[in-house]
Amino acid sequence: MTAVIMDGKALAAEIKARLSQETRMMEGAGVEPKLATILVGDDAPSKVYVAGKHRAAKELGIRVEGFHLPGTSPARDLELLIRRLNADRSVNGIILELPLPSHLDARQMIDLIAPEKDVDGLTAVNMGHLFYNRGVLVPCTPKGIMELLSHYKVLLAGSRCVVINRSALVGRPLMHLLLAEDATVTVCHSKSVDFLSLTRQADVLVTAVGRRPGFTLTRDMVKDGAVVIDVAMNRVHGKLVGDAEFDEVAAKASMITPVPGGVGPMTIAMLMENTLIAAALQGGLKDAGVLK
Ligand SMILES: NC(=O)c1ccc[n+]([C@@H]2O[C@H](COP(=O)([O-])OP(=O)(O)OC[C@H]3O[C@@H](n4cnc5c(N)ncnc54)[C@H](OP(=O)(O)O)[C@@H]3O)[C@@H](O)[C@H]2O)c1
Repeated sequence: MTAVIMDGKALAAEIKARLSQETRMMEGAGVEPKLATILVGDDAPSKVYVAGKHRAAKELGIRVEGFHLPGTSPARDLELLIRRLNADRSVNGIILELPLPSHLDARQMIDLIAPEKDVDGLTAVNMGHLFYNRGVLVPCTPKGIMELLSHYKVLLAGSRCVVINRSALVGRPLMHLLLAEDATVTVCHSKSVDFLSLTRQADVLVTAVGRRPGFTLTRDMVKDGAVVIDVAMNRVHGKLVGDAEFDEVAAKASMITPVPGGVGPMTIAMLMENTLIAAALQGGLKDAGVLK
């Protein structure tokens, strides 16, 4: 079997084209969506990710403003900035770029963001809504994975889904989204035992470890005909790769996401969608396309 490549880049481009029209319609109705990004310190990958988010927002006509605090900033400075952006009616979405410098408590800082502006969907309030199947601002990476699965018409109801990751960013919210589609979900992590017997049962196998060469998803871990979603971003010999040993896993899977060009572009597209959802709700645009 040779897997169908799940083209996240192409799907994200389609979604962004729709969101660009949506932005113009919202502006016509008097709502100008605006995103604020906060970067603390000078972590090089974080700078690249923030720049990518700014680029995507501008491409769609979403206003965007970046705030950059020194890496030595006390918690109080970040708290004041978040509270100021919460109160600023011109700002609809706030992203706090992670990881934060180690002296700052990321969980505490995220929960300062007003839930209605939490376009990453990571506050305890928005996570709680997801728990009860009532998510409105849903974390972008799991949301993007669900869009990909739906676009490629992957059957989830009754399917066995195995997620290798239990982080708040990926595995936990994805578990809720898959359960809401009636999948049977197993979440694995570094302490899971009998790992192979778990992954080999998966109709849909999601891997998000990011520790190559310590962890590599090889063909023996994958069931014949499985759908493989590779979320991870590893640098191997300067090249960006996922967890999967791509060629050998693609030869066994029925569908697979490439890295790059799979889940990554979908994450950004979902962030833009969340920004428009937040703006529509704050602007009282009940008929906005993104709310349907
Ligand atoms: N493409 C995108 O848009 C996107 C978005 C987010 C993240 N990512 C990528 O996804 C990866 C994960 O991100 P994250 O923030 O969730 O990282 P994380 O918090 O470090 O989570 C990694 C997960 O992998 C598990 N793990 C580690 N070693 C393992 C092993 N040997 N066997 C099985 N499980 C193992 C960990 O288990 P424990 O919980 O036991 O430690 C943890 O649950 C990274 O490569 C990141 O760059 C990509």
